[in-house]
Amino acid sequence: MDTQNGKFVDCSGASAPKLNLWPSVLISKEDIEAEVARLADGPTPANGRRASLIVHPNAREPGLGLAPGIRVTLSVLRPGEQTQPIRHNSTQVDFCIRGAGSVMVHGRRIDFGQYDVWNTPSMAPYWYMNDGYELQVRLTYSNAALLEKMNVHIVDDDPPLTEGPEEAPEAEAGAQGAGESPFGTFQLNEDGAFLMPYERLINPTAVASAPLHWPWQRVKAELDKLAALGKDYVGRRLYLLYNPATGRTNGTTQNFFATMTVRPPRIVDRPHRHTSAAINYYFAGSGRSTVEGKIYEWKAGDLMLSAPGWGVHNHASYDEPVYELTIQDQPLNIAMESLLWQESLQQPMKVLGAQAGFATNRKAGGN
Ligand SMILES: [Fe+2]
Repeated sequence: MDTQNGKFVDCSGASAPKLNLWPSVLISKEDIEAEVARLADGPTPANGRRASLIVHPNAREPGLGLAPGIRVTLSVLRPGEQTQPIRHNSTQVDFCIRGAGSVMVHGRRIDFGQYDVWNTPSMAPYWYMNDGYELQVRLTYSNAALLEKMNVHIVDDDPPLTEGPEEAPEAEAGAQGAGESPFGTFQLNEDGAFLMPYERLINPTAVASAPLHWPWQRVKAELDKLAALGKDYVGRRLYLLYNPATGRTNGTTQNFFATMTVRPPRIVDRPHRHTSAAINYYFAGSGRSTVEGKIYEWKAGDLMLSAPGWGVHNHASYDEPVYELTIQDQPLNIAMESLLWQESLQQPMKVLGAQAGFATNRKAGGN
């Protein structure tokens, strides 16, 4: 039998390789519409899923993405169509860009309309329906790109259709249940190093992960109040679509945040950078982005890799208000303690989530 051995790669005295940032790319409204029409005109696939990945030219198998860790899928359903159930250990932010419909996810039905956002938890069986009269078009942002790179993307095309998610048990740290170590998790030394028994390792504190729905009209009503922040406000006029299951990593899923931003006319951001990659979908107005010194112009209906991780960038709106959905792999980077952030190039970088972060000039108690 052949055996394979690991090998040694001498890196004595070597410095770290230079970053090779993926350049920003823009997928125009026209190109998206042409692909939607092509998908809609084809024969119905056996699993019902008419879909195309939107892939960066630098992406390589396995794990094709629009950013190295973010897979973006364009999905279309014709009126009356329904997809086959599926489940997987990747998690998703889902976004309806045209039409309407519904999804059954973990036994819950979500009826969605244009610009609504919802999330799909890990291993939750789901299927889509188009019970309307128009084409349904969705963008799905998934960490499948990363899991495929790790060789651990588990996909089940024939899932059992459970009524609902398993309840997260009340798992208290140090609980003395059946099969618990009598010593629990305990402090080893004055540094604060601990020891944790195997019983806790195979039964970590569970947090229920539910599909949540952010209807656009409800989000927009809140977002439009941020216009009152005025011209001098240095922060972003946005809301993070927050899933409380993500706790301190501020996510919509455990991997991504989704933010909805309004940009009043003629607002120019400060150049900044972060190790999270950012993908924007613009759905009102127009403007431009400067990314690593290169200018990209965009308009409503365009999708863009707006910032490769650690690329210096800023965005500017033209003469109308801009609405955009941004996806970043920020929660993952917070969990990994790798989220370097530089809010302006005059300020030092911070490890967000591990150090004190940044502030804006927003007045306490004001807008
Ligand atoms: Fe940014």
